Amino acid sequence: MKNVRIALLGLGTVGSGVVTILQTHAERLRKQTGTNFEIAGILVRDTTRSRQVDVERSLLTTDIARIWESKPDVVVDAMGGLVPTLGYIEEAIARGCHVVSANKELIAVHGARLHALAGEQGVGLLYEASVGGGIPVLNTLAQLLNVNRITRVAGILNGTTNYILTRMEEDGLPYEAVLAQAQELGFAEADPTADVEGYDAFHKIRIVARLCFGEEVEEEVGLREGITSVTAEEIELYGRLGLRVKLLATAERTKAGLRVQVAPTLVPHSHALSHVKNEYNGVFVTGDVVGDLFFTGKGAGMLPTGSAIVEDIVHAVRGITFTPETAVATQAVEIKAGEGAAE
Ligand code: NDP
Ligand code: HSE
Repeated sequence: MKNVRIALLGLGTVGSGVVTILQTHAERLRKQTGTNFEIAGILVRDTTRSRQVDVERSLLTTDIARIWESKPDVVVDAMGGLVPTLGYIEEAIARGCHVVSANKELIAVHGARLHALAGEQGVGLLYEASVGGGIPVLNTLAQLLNVNRITRVAGILNGTTNYILTRMEEDGLPYEAVLAQAQELGFAEADPTADVEGYDAFHKIRIVARLCFGEEVEEEVGLREGITSVTAEEIELYGRLGLRVKLLATAERTKAGLRVQVAPTLVPHSHALSHVKNEYNGVFVTGDVVGDLFFTGKGAGMLPTGSAIVEDIVHAVRGITFTPETAVATQAVEIKAGEGAAE
């Protein structure tokens, strides 16, 4: 049986989900893939901390050199941030490792270049977990692009803010208390400003825009607004008017070009997105052939995110990967020429 060695960068919420699934689903993975998946090493900041999962202490290290010495086939970024993560990911690719990442910030900012590096090395770069948690948003979009021209992707892409808005409305709890709950549950980013100010959703919609429209969306471009200005009184008042506040991320073709934005939006109670609650995400996709699609599921948390990562590990080992550049080359040209824009 083939043996695949996995190095994990990070053993927090997401890393613990990956380890749990590799432990609890080892037999199923072996049967389904004919492969034994083995943890080769785990990079953390503090090897003495108590952990959410049982792992052999000897696998933990704070020294990246020990990760390379463990000769991994796949490196999983469950660590987050840009520094020192980017350097580690570049090194992993240079060493011929497949990379699987949950790190939307890194992929939003450096994804195009990392794809080029991965292409040169002939390794996979997969990051399903970076958008929509457990919902297979990116892999599904990639599978639609051969035929479809995607005109719009819009939805709830941040679990923390959706959790906060839901609990504020349903429990009447103050913002600070529900944010603390979201942190406790492991949904929030290390710095929750990324969630509540809309940066996290913006990173995700940038990744979607690259895949679907072949465009690099710079951080300064487009509107980005979070939920910090939304008050409990507003949520209550809008509720009485049949409306719910949701933080929506949108990328769409318009006559003027690609429009990308993240903003709190009023959604009628009759709309499917208004029923996407707590840490769930919900995404509408419109393609010219397939029409409208709607996906929903847990957008954050240990096991949904771990599921996306472990599926990506299997895809990487099987050589299944997508390159946004080739998938959307012609679509990008069409947008720039202002052709085929949505009405
Ligand atoms: P956590 O803060 O829970 O875990 C981060 C882990 O990375 C910790 O184990 C930490 O070590 C380790 N780490 C951080 N910085 C360093 C460093 N400089 N050197 C070595 N180890 C380091 O984060 P999450 O698991 O929540 O998130 C990880 C990534 O996954 C982020 O990119 C996040 O955006 C993304 N993500 C998170 C989801 C979620 O639901 N939480 C869902 C989808 C994606 P130590 O434990 O010793 O402190
Ligand atoms: N902090 C992120 C969220 C994690 O709440 O959606 C999942 O990407």
